[in-house]
Amino acid sequence: MTTTGASILQADKDWWRGAVIYQVYPRSYQDTNGDGIGDLKGITQRLEHIASLGADAIWISPFFTSPMKDFGYDVSNYEDVDPIFGNLADFDGLIAEAHRLGIRVMIDLVMSHTSDRHPWFVESRSSRENAKADWYVWADSKPDGSPPNNWLSIFGGSAWQWDPTRLQYYLHNFLTSQPDLNLHNPEVQDALLAVARFWLVRGVDGFRLDTINFYFHDKELRDNPALAPERRNAQTAPAVNPYNYQEHIYDKNRPENLEFLKRFRAVMDEFPAIAAVGEVGDSQRGLEIAGEYTSGGDKMHMCYAFEFLAPDPITPSIVASVQQAFEKAAPEGWVCWAFSNHDVMRHITRWGLGISDHVAHAKLLASLLMSLKGSVCIYQGEELALPEAELAYEDLQDPYGIQFWPDFKGRDGCRTPMVWDGKALFGGFSDGKPWLPVSGEHLARAVSAQDGDPDSVLNHYRRFIAFRKQYPALAKGEVEYLTVDEPALAFVRTYGNERILCVFNLSQEKQAVAKPDGAVEALEGHGFKAAIKNDTIELPAWGAFFARLD
Ligand code: BGC
Repeated sequence: MTTTGASILQADKDWWRGAVIYQVYPRSYQDTNGDGIGDLKGITQRLEHIASLGADAIWISPFFTSPMKDFGYDVSNYEDVDPIFGNLADFDGLIAEAHRLGIRVMIDLVMSHTSDRHPWFVESRSSRENAKADWYVWADSKPDGSPPNNWLSIFGGSAWQWDPTRLQYYLHNFLTSQPDLNLHNPEVQDALLAVARFWLVRGVDGFRLDTINFYFHDKELRDNPALAPERRNAQTAPAVNPYNYQEHIYDKNRPENLEFLKRFRAVMDEFPAIAAVGEVGDSQRGLEIAGEYTSGGDKMHMCYAFEFLAPDPITPSIVASVQQAFEKAAPEGWVCWAFSNHDVMRHITRWGLGISDHVAHAKLLASLLMSLKGSVCIYQGEELALPEAELAYEDLQDPYGIQFWPDFKGRDGCRTPMVWDGKALFGGFSDGKPWLPVSGEHLARAVSAQDGDPDSVLNHYRRFIAFRKQYPALAKGEVEYLTVDEPALAFVRTYGNERILCVFNLSQEKQAVAKPDGAVEALEGHGFKAAIKNDTIELPAWGAFFARLD
């Protein structure tokens, strides 16, 4: 990195702690060549929007060369840009502009698996003797021809696919076209570390590491035990998916991963101010694993947690118990929270059915998310309070949704194009027919409709991110939960001498919460109208209150 913007960004090595990271799904952000699919030039063009929010960094979902069976999460060349998205020069342009605007760039490395078109896999599957024969997870069938064990693919069916050339099965935790790399092989690790270095030299500021707890499998290929029905939950896979019926102790979450994460960290530490957030998907031990991966200062900086991506409506007791469970499991660890992303139903719909005032609801949730102890990822369109888009079966693109339709509709409803201009063709996303339809309901909430309205959800995100930046306790502080009656939620964030009280009303009815003892100086600038009257904090529907404590 050579630009002045980049040098300023490199000065703060701890930038990731408490950062607000804005997730861009490149296919759906901004198209500049009329093919109906977003591209890197489009992201560059829209960086001003992200800067206007005050985000510290962007995480860009994969834009590498790919047959797009899983829309980029199936990489066939880690060191190039897929022509749909542009080329390496476009990426250099994106980084330069982001740094000029003070935004760091995190890219999404998918290292657990590749595409079946990746030359590594093409070679690996060609025989049992080639130089890359052991780069993927190959195993003989059982004597009766069935797969080696009971492991399941998240996207449905067995995690094993038969290969008629090698007369063996290969492992795939996702699509059959996403064969699992064998990270037990040090050559595979070296090749992946070289990929990371390639992008670090190019100027990226960090990584989102896809499915980080899937990197290693049990070498003995032992069967996963069945999970008791009462322990099943739909956090990382929908309830209709039998993936939830197993305890995933052998197909993922293996202890060998810790050593590899240390190797990965050592590469990052060769460069200034780099940070990584690892995605940990595990419905039973997710927080514990996130703690293991982020403790000790020698592995991941942060882990991305699924606790608030689940269908269950968020409640004060869920928030407190999740945060306290993480603190207990990993007092030194650091989590990155999100309410929405490109894999789950948008939270405005997931948690908002039956709620009449979606604007107030969205503002409250945004402020709660940005007050939690941890870093934050916000997903494109969340700042507009976009609901999940309704799609017809014929419009579906996501193989996951096609597999489980209609009980689980897949991930297309959260991936429809960003809406910039409510009056323009296709919401200003593209001049051509978009790869997924633009939702009519979204057009009314486009950036153009919210930009000039001080009371809009968009301006609330801008205001609240600025508010968070003003008080380091909100970004980096410790947390202590106070006992208040649901549906209110109260906690104190502390950093040095700064103590900030945060109180939320998670309901459509007004609430009253007793003022804590001692001096309470109400803060302003966050956009909420709660007030203290006679030692009581009065919160309107979906209200919040922030104050400095002595
Ligand atoms: C990504 C998904 C992807 C899967 C397989 C994830 O968790 O977020 O979009 O399908 O990994 O790479």
